Parts: sequence; structure tokens; C-alpha cells
Amino acid sequence: MFESFKVPKDLIPSDPRFGVGPSLIPTEAVEKLAKTGHELLGTSHRREAVRNVVKEMQEGIRTYFKLPSDYEVVIGNGGATMLWDMIGLGAVDKTPYHFVCGEFSDKWFRANKNIPWLKPDAKKVDFGLGINPVEVPGYDFLACTLNETSTGVMLSELPNVSRDTILAIDATSGAGQIPIDFKKSDLYYFSPQKVFASEGGFFVSIMSPKAIERVERIAKDSTRFIPESMKWSHAIENSRQNQTYNTPAISTIFFLNEQVKLMNKLGEEQVVKEAKRKAALLYGWASEKSYLSPFVVDEKFRSQAVATIDIDEKYKADDLAKVLRAQGVVYDIDSYRKLGRNQFRISMFHNVTFDNLEKLTKIISLAIESSN
Ligand SMILES: Cc1ncc(COP(=O)(O)O)c(C=O)c1O
Repeated sequence: MFESFKVPKDLIPSDPRFGVGPSLIPTEAVEKLAKTGHELLGTSHRREAVRNVVKEMQEGIRTYFKLPSDYEVVIGNGGATMLWDMIGLGAVDKTPYHFVCGEFSDKWFRANKNIPWLKPDAKKVDFGLGINPVEVPGYDFLACTLNETSTGVMLSELPNVSRDTILAIDATSGAGQIPIDFKKSDLYYFSPQKVFASEGGFFVSIMSPKAIERVERIAKDSTRFIPESMKWSHAIENSRQNQTYNTPAISTIFFLNEQVKLMNKLGEEQVVKEAKRKAALLYGWASEKSYLSPFVVDEKFRSQAVATIDIDEKYKADDLAKVLRAQGVVYDIDSYRKLGRNQFRISMFHNVTFDNLEKLTKIISLAIESSN
């Protein structure tokens, strides 16, 4: 249907990367890394040069999120998927309660179901609907997902939880663009290959004193087996010294630091303002065109980081995505594979410019309207 469609020259975006992760890493950051020559790559991560980058990144994150002074920025190897296990083993007492609204929140729930001594439960809603966490009596841990990357649903409110409950937030694709009140959060974590424009295989976990106390207390339970690689004590001790427990990818830390610096130049408020402007563009377009509709119906749950837009069954989103990729013009706008919808999923991450998103809307409209 779209084979003969050719993107007009004036609509070609300056960067084809619209994917929700791994996301657009600025080529300037890659060039800057190359220019560090012998100073970082291939040197010890326990020496000053690399540790200074780690420190700058940790402090930059603290500044960006305006963290309370007693919160810690804990880092380590392995992305959010690894953290699900590390959290289940070392931060949940017994009863985690999950708020499930998509594939990633469900995967976290399933990870806890695999740990024999945990008794997890969940509230699940149909994919495309949103759900805000609330404290549930009898549960020591609440697990929620700030931005469900599979469906484009974001949280709109967080509860105040009691002293004995940990509020944990998987912020992987929302961190940086969906602000929260950190005083409410105990364990907020993300992998950096989304808004923070780095590579995967790494985690950043922002921990309240209550979360630190919890992991320290659980660590003393000698009946609980926790593999060395997943011990919170190692991650915390090393992070305090601007290191990781085992060897990290230095390029990942470098790119993350570059992105934190870039976003700190504007500050969170301005970054969020830009994100909202992009969201208004995409959802406005999807609402206006008869052959499109925003997948997330309730506006307060519509993500300002990942847009999911359904397309009329007459047109095949995958076919168009394939044609645009083959022309080298637009990459990775396919819907989440397991969701199985005729849909585009588009990154509104900080490095994807408003102008390029506007061009993308015009490309898709032109392709569809000229196929009739
Ligand atoms: C919300 C969310 N959680 C967890 C993950 C898993 O992250 P990783 O692949 O870094 O383990 C992803 C990946 O896309 C995600 O979007």
C-alpha cells in the first residue's frame, strides 16, 4: 500500500531516530567521547578520571531532580530488568503489591512471583488504561511504573505511604520528563537508554533513607540467599565512592553524564514544558485526523514521553514503518511487539526535536492521505 510512497525532501527529519529505547544519542556526545582519546575508555574505573565523570553524573542527577539531601543516587550494572530481581531479593520484606497496566509493569510483577518467599499481588487494568498507586493494607511494598513504555500510559498521582511501606517506582522511560515529588518516593529507578540518552545495561536508583534502612535490615537476614552481584550493600558502598561494584561500560556513564548536563542547562521545569508541547502536538494531530486516535483515552494518563497512536485498520502501520525505515528517514516507530496493535509508538524524549516530530506527523498524514 505504501511501497511507492517517497518522503518529500523538505519533510526529511534531521535525525531518523524516533524509537523509545535505545533512544537517540546525540552524535555530538559520541564525538566528544572520541575526543577524550586515552583518558577514559580503556582506563580503570577505580581511578580518578572515570570516578570524576561518575561523580559529576551523580551530582547532576541530584541537581536535576532537586533531591532531598538525605536521598542517595545508587548506581550499578544491569538495567531495570536486573533490578526487578535485586529489589525483590533485597528490598521487599514479603508482600509486594503491583499496579499493572502494561507489559513492563507485568514483568516486574512476574519477577516477584518467581521469588519463593514473596507473596505478591497485583491490581491489573486493561492495556491502554491508567492506574495510580494507592497504599494497600497488609503490603510492605508498592510497585508502580511511572511510564508504561508498552502502552504510553503515565502515572498522574502518587500516594503518601506509611513508615513501614516502600513506594518503588520504575521510572525507566519517564525519568526526566514526568516529574514526581521525591519526598513520596523511596526507590525510584531507571535504565539510562531512554530520556537520558545513553546505552543500556546500567541502572540509576534514587533511594530514600527509608529504602536504605529496609535493604540494610533485609541484608542481615541470614536465611535469605542474595547473590553477591545483587547485594544492595555493594551497590550502595561503591556508589558512595563514585564507582560500581563490578566493571561498568564507561561509555554508558559518559553519555549519561553528557545528557544530564544538557538537561541541567535547561532545568527540569523547562524540559517538562517542552515534553508537554510535543505531547500536545502528537495527541492533537491524532485527535484531529479521522484515521488516527490516541490509544490512551483518558487524557490525564497520556504519556508526555511515549506517544501511542492507533491507526485505522484500512492502513497498516507496520507497512508504513517499514517503508520509512527503508528510506532511512524514520526508525523505530512500530508499536510494542506484544501489544499487537495497528499503532505507532513514538518517542517524545528530550533529544527528539519538536520540528522533527512535526515533520513525522506530516509524513504519516501525507502517506496515508495519498494512498486513498
Ligand atoms: C518501563 C520499563 N521498565 C523496564 C524496562 C527494562 O529495561 P532494561 O531493558 O534496561 O532492563 C523497560 C525497557 O524498555 C521499560 O520501558
